[in-house]
Amino acid sequence: MNTSENLFPHDHYVNAERRKEIIDQKPVLIWLSGLSGSGKSTIANELEKKLYENGYLSYLLDGDNIRIGLNKDLGFTDDDRKENIRRISEVSRLMLDAGLIVITAFISPFEEERELAKSLVKEENYFLVHVHCSVEKCEERDVKGLYKKARAGEIKNFTGIDSPYEIPNEPNLIVDTENETVKESVDKIFLAIADKIK
Ligand code: ADX
Repeated sequence: MNTSENLFPHDHYVNAERRKEIIDQKPVLIWLSGLSGSGKSTIANELEKKLYENGYLSYLLDGDNIRIGLNKDLGFTDDDRKENIRRISEVSRLMLDAGLIVITAFISPFEEERELAKSLVKEENYFLVHVHCSVEKCEERDVKGLYKKARAGEIKNFTGIDSPYEIPNEPNLIVDTENETVKESVDKIFLAIADKIK
């Protein structure tokens, strides 16, 4: 690990403010948290489409994609999940600095790591959405067949089965995918962030 006493971060001439003059938008991090199968990726994808159609530059970071590349050395122990979220938070911070609207779709089960993300990017740039769906419903959907494997003991530390999910204490918004359509959830998020990104 680095000892920060020997590091000297630079201030760059082309900074977030100057980039903002070219990209006419305010960056924000839209952090989606919820169980596997709750609908995070679907909502994130549709939300990004809506941002694109409205002329916004964005980038979507999604658990399954990032775990194939940047975080392929990480598994699903508590420590690995924490490191997963720490790296995603740092990557998000860079992308916000670059001027992008960032959407993340990770289970992110721990309050402490979500708080870390918030403090890294600063509270005013962070918008936490709890993608709510009961374990029962997620298990019934079981789009990826993972709940079945977890019940059979083929996957260990599965969120909602033998690994915890801490419900966000104070999300900026809750979408309820058991009772809302994808479009309803996406429209709710878009409306809630509309004045933050202009
Ligand atoms: S997190 O807890 O570290 O935030 P992340 O969102 O990156 O999780 O990855 C979750 C995805 O990994 C799930 O959607 C699922 O496809 C897959 N997965 C594989 N094993 C597990 C597990 N034990 N618990 C949860 N998700 C798992």
